[in-house]
Order: sequence, then structure tokens, then C-alpha cells
Amino acid sequence: MKKLKVNLGERSYSIIIGKGCLTKLKGIVKKLKLGKVIAVVTNPTINRLHGALMQKALRGSAAEVHFVEVPDSEESKSAQVCISLIERFAELDRGKGLSLIAFGGGVIGDLTGFCASVYRRGIPYIQVPTTLLAQVDSSIGGKTAIDLASAKNLIGSFYQPRLVLSELRFLSSLPEAQIKEALAEIIKYAIIADSRLFQFLEKNLEAILALEQKKIEYIVETCCRIKANVVEQDETDKKDKRIILNFGHTTAHALEAAAGYGEDYTHGYSVALGILVACEIARELKLIHGKAAERIEALIARAGLPTKISQLKLEDILKAQAHDKKFIGGKNRFVLPLAIGKTVVRENVSKTTIVKAIKSKMGR
Ligand SMILES: NC(=O)c1ccc[n+]([C@@H]2O[C@H](COP(=O)([O-])OP(=O)(O)OC[C@H]3O[C@@H](n4cnc5c(N)ncnc54)[C@H](O)[C@@H]3O)[C@@H](O)[C@H]2O)c1
Ligand SMILES: [Zn+2]
Repeated sequence: MKKLKVNLGERSYSIIIGKGCLTKLKGIVKKLKLGKVIAVVTNPTINRLHGALMQKALRGSAAEVHFVEVPDSEESKSAQVCISLIERFAELDRGKGLSLIAFGGGVIGDLTGFCASVYRRGIPYIQVPTTLLAQVDSSIGGKTAIDLASAKNLIGSFYQPRLVLSELRFLSSLPEAQIKEALAEIIKYAIIADSRLFQFLEKNLEAILALEQKKIEYIVETCCRIKANVVEQDETDKKDKRIILNFGHTTAHALEAAAGYGEDYTHGYSVALGILVACEIARELKLIHGKAAERIEALIARAGLPTKISQLKLEDILKAQAHDKKFIGGKNRFVLPLAIGKTVVRENVSKTTIVKAIKSKMGR
């Protein structure tokens, strides 16, 4: 079992990672003095697979525990679902003091965190992430959000959880596609901050895809450490530090939008391609050695992630990119790799360079 701390003054909290760490939940809930009522927000899929384990983990926590389900879909990150959850919270609360547990992937985490930040102007919540993506990324850092029909994550807050508890046993039921989605972000972490993590991925990729516990524990711990470090330096995304976590995301968002958020361009798959486009821009600008870019592409391919942009039109990608929030004010901004483990932020990359990089990744 591993324990890390996110140091944010009075908003500091622990991240606990490991196989069997869920048994710690009851004791921590008592210690954190979270109130007399706990609402566990989840969805029917997670509840069916792992609800019994969660129920057992909370037995004897001295709190009244209620499971509250929302539909299993990104569509649950909506104002409508948020309001209906809050109405349910008010019924359960009755002045006794309510806390929330986000029990699920990034959708549940973002939604629950947002509800926690606005209900009664803020109540405590805990993240119990159940996807690899949520364990390495979305459960840490306090970015909470719901979507608008016109754009994702447009309504949100910075609101830190009181604890993140990453039980590795939950991952055993994840479909392989979900592991690959997370791998794109894990590769991203390695390129921005940790060449040893990159080597570890190169060496252990098959074992990681097979969810070998010790390997997964190392990855989750390392990624959490990287993200916690960035968040500690720039909690609310104002100091230009958190932008590093957006490596690969400028083009990724454009690909997702150009594909109409369809199934072929999921977030992780788009991030993999976005990383490759960023590498190509860096290669064009002579920032990164060709050999390093080749290693990155080889790892992405071995992870079963795409290396070619297919089915999309260049004009649609460029149009979507121009609408990205990182392009606002006419300036573009890319996080670009200098080497594996090191990046730089570059503004005003020429359109010719961007087009050349995207074109070089188009094909079958
Ligand atoms: N707040 C942040 O910093 C941040 C960062 C990255 C992503 N996000 C958000 O996270 C969301 C994506 O998260 P995600 O990839 O976890 O997707 P998700 O929450 O939709 O989960 C993916 C699917 O896996 C299922 N699932 C969850 N746990 C499972 C398990 N243990 N076994 C089997 N199935 C399981 C879910 O029911 C769902 O169908 C997006 O909404 C994105 O905007 C937020
Ligand atoms: Zn991402």
C-alpha cells in the first residue's frame, strides 16, 4: 500500500493506493469527522460490480450510508442530474451533516465533486476512483465539472476532496479499451515529467495491460505524484504550471470535436494522436531528437493506441483547433517535448508547421 500527500495548506489530503486499501475507508471516515450521513454517488454498472465491497467497507463507520445512482454515461455530467442529486442530498441530510463519496470513474468524480462544491456552499467529499483513468488523473487535483450541451466541462469549480482512495481491486473488471484510454494519459505523464516511468512502460507494457498489481501500483503512485506536484504549484490553473498536463490535448480536443465526439475518437485515443502531433511539431522546430520521437511513437503503437489520424478532414481539424480555449486571442499554445521527461510551452507555432505535423500523421 502507498500513501502520498497533496500539500495545499488547509486543503491538503492523502492519496492511498493499493490492493485492499478500501478496508482503510471506515477508519478514515471516522477520523475525518465527516458528518452523520454519507451519500455514495455511483452508477448501476459500478454498483453491480463492486457495490457490495463498498457497502462492507463502510459498515461500522458510525454513519448512515445511502447509495445514490445516476445513469452510466457522460450525460450524467449535466445540470439536470446535478440538481436532482442535490435534491436527494437535501432529503438525506436533514441537518445531520452530509458528506459524499464519489464511487466510480471520472464522470462520477467530476459530477460528485461539483455537487459537493455547491451544495450548502460546500460539503466534504471523498474520491474512490474505479477506473485507471480516474486513479491516475481525474480524482486528483480538485477540478470538478458538469457539461453544457454546447461544450464539455464548461461549468465547474476547484474543490479538493478530503481523501483519494484508489483500490486496485476495482480495476480487474475494467474492459481493455478503458486500460488503453488511461495508458494514453500515463504515457503523457512520462513524457512531461519522468523518463524512468517511460522506461518502465517500455519494459513492462504487457504486464501492465494484464493489470499485474505491483506494476499498476507503481504506475498509479508515480502518476499521482506527478499530478500532485503540478497541482501543488498551481492549484487553480493561474500560474501557467498546470498547462503542462495538457500535453497532447490541444490537437486531441480538435480531433474529438472534428469527429463529433464519436466512438472512434475517444479522449484517450485522441490524446495519443495529439502527443504524436506535438512530437512532430517539436521535431520540425528541432526541439526534440528524432530518436526520442520514434520511441514515443513505438510505445503508443505497442499500447494499442492509434498512430494515424484516419477518416477526418484536415480543414475540420484546423477549424476545431482554432476554437480551442488555448487558441483564444489568436495565439496558439502548445506544450512540446524537448526530450522524454521534459517539455516546454511554445506560443504562436506557425500554421505551416502545425499543418505539416498533422498531415504527417494522417493516413490509414
Ligand atoms: N477532473 C479532472 O481533472 C479530469 C481529468 C480527466 C478526465 N476527466 C473527466 O473524466 C471523465 C472520463 O472518466 P473515465 O474515463 O473514468 O470514464 P467514465 O467515468 O465514463 O467510466 C468509463 C466506463 O467504465 C465504467 N466503469 C467504471 N469503473 C469500472 C470498473 N471498475 N469496472 C468496469 N467498468 C467500470 C463506467 O461505468 C463507464 O461506463 C470525463 O468526463 C472527463 O471529462 C476529469
Ligand atoms: Zn486528458
